[in-house]
Amino acid sequence: MKVLLIGSGGREHALYWKILQSPQLEEIYVYPGNGGILEEHRLRKENYGDLFHDNFSGIKKILKEKEIDLVIVGPEQPLVDGLADAIQDYCLVFGPNQQGAKIEGSKSYARSFMDRFGIPSAKFQVFNDSNKAIEYLEQIQPPYVIKADGLAAGKGVTVTENKNIAIQSIKDILDNKIFGNYPLLIEEFLEGKEASIFAFCDGEKAIPMQPARDYKRAYDNNQGPNTGGMGSVTPVEYINQELLDFIQKEIFDKTIEGFKKLNIKYKGILYAGLMIYNNKAKVVEFNCRFGDPEIQALLPILDEDLLDLCFHTASGTLSKYKSKLQFKNLTSMTVVVAAEGYPKSYKKNINLTEFLDNIPEELIVFHAGTEYEKNTNQYFSMGGRILNITATGKSIEEVRSKIYRFLDNNKVPDTFYRKDIGILY
Ligand code: AMP
Ligand code: GLY
Repeated sequence: MKVLLIGSGGREHALYWKILQSPQLEEIYVYPGNGGILEEHRLRKENYGDLFHDNFSGIKKILKEKEIDLVIVGPEQPLVDGLADAIQDYCLVFGPNQQGAKIEGSKSYARSFMDRFGIPSAKFQVFNDSNKAIEYLEQIQPPYVIKADGLAAGKGVTVTENKNIAIQSIKDILDNKIFGNYPLLIEEFLEGKEASIFAFCDGEKAIPMQPARDYKRAYDNNQGPNTGGMGSVTPVEYINQELLDFIQKEIFDKTIEGFKKLNIKYKGILYAGLMIYNNKAKVVEFNCRFGDPEIQALLPILDEDLLDLCFHTASGTLSKYKSKLQFKNLTSMTVVVAAEGYPKSYKKNINLTEFLDNIPEELIVFHAGTEYEKNTNQYFSMGGRILNITATGKSIEEVRSKIYRFLDNNKVPDTFYRKDIGILY
């Protein structure tokens, strides 16, 4: 199979790494990729112009020239922009069409969808006017949950006990429009512990991966601003079989049924961000792609051929698979090394070469915001989340010690990482 993988994050490096292991792979191209993805597999902008411009004409050119069979779309933005619709006549696409991707692209749409199809989630109100939103805030109890309605890379959500901070975030979203011209949601605060579950959906059936856990706040003890994710661990010890059955029936199956009623052929990943309380789950958010950095911890212990799974998802033939995917009986964990200042402004061009030269064999490194300089054979940072350090082992203590033994002794200047990944809160 000839594959084009789209994206440049740690998620895409992990997908690339796992797909390379598939016996079905004939050729893989990655656009744009990052420093960790081999140069020979990367398709650079120079050759194809702006791939996302003018109804994705650059991508169509690649599909024809390279005779691509399957496109795997990593990030949400191109899906929300309609990439799958634009190229569906050229090849198979792993990633939902624009209507399907709206489940992530608009939080108010997603909440209405959940209400309509009886999927357990938070109550919510939508506002376009900051005075009305603040008036409503005065009537409810903290903690306050304020969200921008559109895509904001995990940064458009404020959860706070502090009314002034809540009011400021309402003004930032509706008056200062810091995330763009979006309405705002004020949601019921859901109590509990979080988990992420990614289900492969072929339009008829949803087959989930085992749960993973993301650490979204920037700093230790779950302090600081929300980020795209600072670390992850799998499996998740507070999710038992009874709860998995509940999630399958009440969340995944109902969502697939909902899509079918709306005539949406959803082919790709449905990511359920869940809040677990009293052995029940409610949906905090749906996304239309794999979570980053959860997938960096999941893929090293996935005991299936990922490329085969993606192919059968995109071709609507997941019936080949049973309702459960095989995972190795190991714990897996990822710690994100980020640039000082992330998720706000941060330094770029940090030299990572020496750090990367010292990585021991027991660790896997997935690159995120990095660039490889061929002439000097050096690696530099270019994004906020820079590297993902993953380890697998028999216990959480073992993987924590493998990762932190290395990180604590090999600090990259101008970077930071959370020291409490794997610890339960
Ligand atoms: P989201 O981008 O919607 O996943 O929100 C980011 C993070 O904010 C989530 O992972 C939760 O930690 C928190 N959050 C979002 N919505 C709620 C809610 N309704 N109740 C409690 N926490 C929430
Ligand atoms: N780790 C959270 C996300 O990918 O949205």
